[in-house]
Amino acid sequence: MRASQSVIPGSDEELMARRAASLGPAYRLLYNDPVHFVRGSGVHLYDSAGEEYLDAYNNVPCIGHSHPAVANAVSEQLRLINTNTRYLQDGVVDYAEELLATFPPELGNVMFTCTGSEANDLAVRVANFVTGNSGLIITENAYHGTTAVMAGVSPSLGPGVPRPANVRLIPAPDRYMLAVSDDELREYMLAHVRAAVDDLVASGYGVSALILDTLFSSDGILPNPVSWIAPAAEIVRGEGGLFIADEVQAGFGRLGAGMWGFTRHGVSADIVTMGKSMGNGYPVAAAVFRPELLEEFGPTVRYFNTFGGSSAAISAAAAVLHTIKNEDLVAHSKVLGYQIRTEVQSLASSDPRIGCVRGQGLALGVAFVSQEGTRVPDPALASRVVNAMREKHVLISASGADGNVLKIRPPLVFGREDGARLVEVLAEVLDATRD
Ligand SMILES: Cc1ncc(COP(=O)(O)O)c(C=O)c1O
Repeated sequence: MRASQSVIPGSDEELMARRAASLGPAYRLLYNDPVHFVRGSGVHLYDSAGEEYLDAYNNVPCIGHSHPAVANAVSEQLRLINTNTRYLQDGVVDYAEELLATFPPELGNVMFTCTGSEANDLAVRVANFVTGNSGLIITENAYHGTTAVMAGVSPSLGPGVPRPANVRLIPAPDRYMLAVSDDELREYMLAHVRAAVDDLVASGYGVSALILDTLFSSDGILPNPVSWIAPAAEIVRGEGGLFIADEVQAGFGRLGAGMWGFTRHGVSADIVTMGKSMGNGYPVAAAVFRPELLEEFGPTVRYFNTFGGSSAAISAAAAVLHTIKNEDLVAHSKVLGYQIRTEVQSLASSDPRIGCVRGQGLALGVAFVSQEGTRVPDPALASRVVNAMREKHVLISASGADGNVLKIRPPLVFGREDGARLVEVLAEVLDATRD
């Protein structure tokens, strides 16, 4: 397909036509008026006309876009040597030790992959191997990745991806939509976990693992309450299953309470997966295990991942981990996240269209409902707000099963003044959309 003749060569329209022709129909662009970025720095992105945008959406560049520590580490490593885990190298072992030191002591082995999907895929392989079961329990709008197995446990991809027979859904822990107290939510979630476990056992799959994104990002940003995951994991363990904490979204300090989301829940994880912000944009991901889970799997099943744990990937990951620690970004995420959430809550108090503001650290969800009291999701308003903010050069998006929850998830190096700009533009847009 050729771009139509009326399209100006070199324009964004022409690029979109060429993109569709070459990449095919599976990709989606963000925003009604897509943005064409050519440069990033810190929390800012710059479009092809040189215009600046505030990035309040991207968690991958957690220490900021184009961070010199990562760029330098990777380019120096590429000039020196970039090879794989079949050779002895200091970097991968040094990093493994440093990463493991951020976990509770029972989590003592790490295996490297390139993507969060691969890390989750490996986690499920190990869980199936160790438990001898294949049943998986996930939340109703979870996203865990792109491999065949992970797409099957990613209902947020929509009905086009059929749910495999060995997968059971539990509801999203959405206190607001369910209109329940914390205690009621806990009982409700545990009843559903129990039912899923019983059903998997009765169906002959047995329970391999409960897999949870500890931020429930695609379910609508639901980091609280923290009372139900630990007993849920115990129910699963009671039938021989494991608990896999998917920290691809929550990990590396995003929630401002330690490095990992699952520790907030007081639950001990059998396997923890991570990715995204781990390399600040350089592809590197990992799965961390209780060593006893690998005792038989390791010798029986050879593991090699050509690029996972390569010298350059590890140099990026090390630069990120050092920057998070040196700049105290976990504490920063807690303090700034609280300030932003409080300010957005005060906007919400005079706006009945906002049903609920929630979050933890630098992960914020704002749920729109169509009428006060009815809790009917309003995805159209969320989309209007997201697009209007984009027009004002502040980038956010929407999530949740109904797409009615603003997803605000800036780089961890977001500053106080960036937070103020975000809230100011949100207030302007809320005013402008009050028809
Ligand atoms: C919770 C969660 N798990 C896994 C993944 C998959 O990670 P990747 O895109 O690196 O394969 C994602 C990606 O968005 C995610 O949000």
